Amino acid sequence: HLVCPMHSSPYVDPRKPSQEVWEEFSMSFTPAVRDVVDFAKRIPGFRELPEHDQVGLLKAGTFEVLMVRFASLFNVVERTVTFLSGKRYGLDTLRSLGAGELLNSMCEFSEKLAALRLNPDEMSLFTAVVLVSADRSGIQDLSSVEALQDKLIRGLRNLVMQNHGEDSATTFTKLLLKLPELRSLNNMHSEELLSFTVHP
Ligand code: HEM
Repeated sequence: HLVCPMHSSPYVDPRKPSQEVWEEFSMSFTPAVRDVVDFAKRIPGFRELPEHDQVGLLKAGTFEVLMVRFASLFNVVERTVTFLSGKRYGLDTLRSLGAGELLNSMCEFSEKLAALRLNPDEMSLFTAVVLVSADRSGIQDLSSVEALQDKLIRGLRNLVMQNHGEDSATTFTKLLLKLPELRSLNNMHSEELLSFTVHP
């Protein structure tokens, strides 16, 4: 089984060579990864960072950006997950196929993000903040990355303050608290990815 919703379906033909399974899976998630790269290039100031740091932020942050973008695949009310093919599967089915605690954590994250009711501009700016807040290990020009992060966070704060009335301050705080949650989902997911590539 391959219980990642970036795949077309959790069911995998056991006779298929694992290399073929992986190739099909790559074809399914690659367009989404490309979109993240294109999005990054459009963040004002991102292209001015050293190329090495652009690559570093994308490597560390792509999963987190995708998690935010695809949060709506997780439907907590109906207890389903929609895979990239558009097919929907129940949480219990996915659990019986091997999904675990991480699936629960992602559902919970998605539900809380949806509750903040961000509009598309806020969502886009929040996603930019997520990307430039990615793990900095190996980043060369830290002060430029931090300056860009500050600029984006100020922009996000202004936008949220305009749109969320008396909930503005709590909405903004909750958004910033999503950053460490995303980091932790990223770490847990990397472990799933690693153990899958070791024992497909
Ligand atoms: C699990 C790969 C992105 C959600 C997995 C697994 C792999 C994988 C190999 C283990 C599957 C198994 O053991 O059956 C990838 C790759 C991604 C990616 C290469 C790069 C684009 C994402 C994103 C999300 C996601 C963006 C969420 C929106 C999940 C979930 C699981 C999972 C829910 C199952 C967790 C559990 O076992 O509880 N992924 N994934 N993945 N992935 Fe992904």
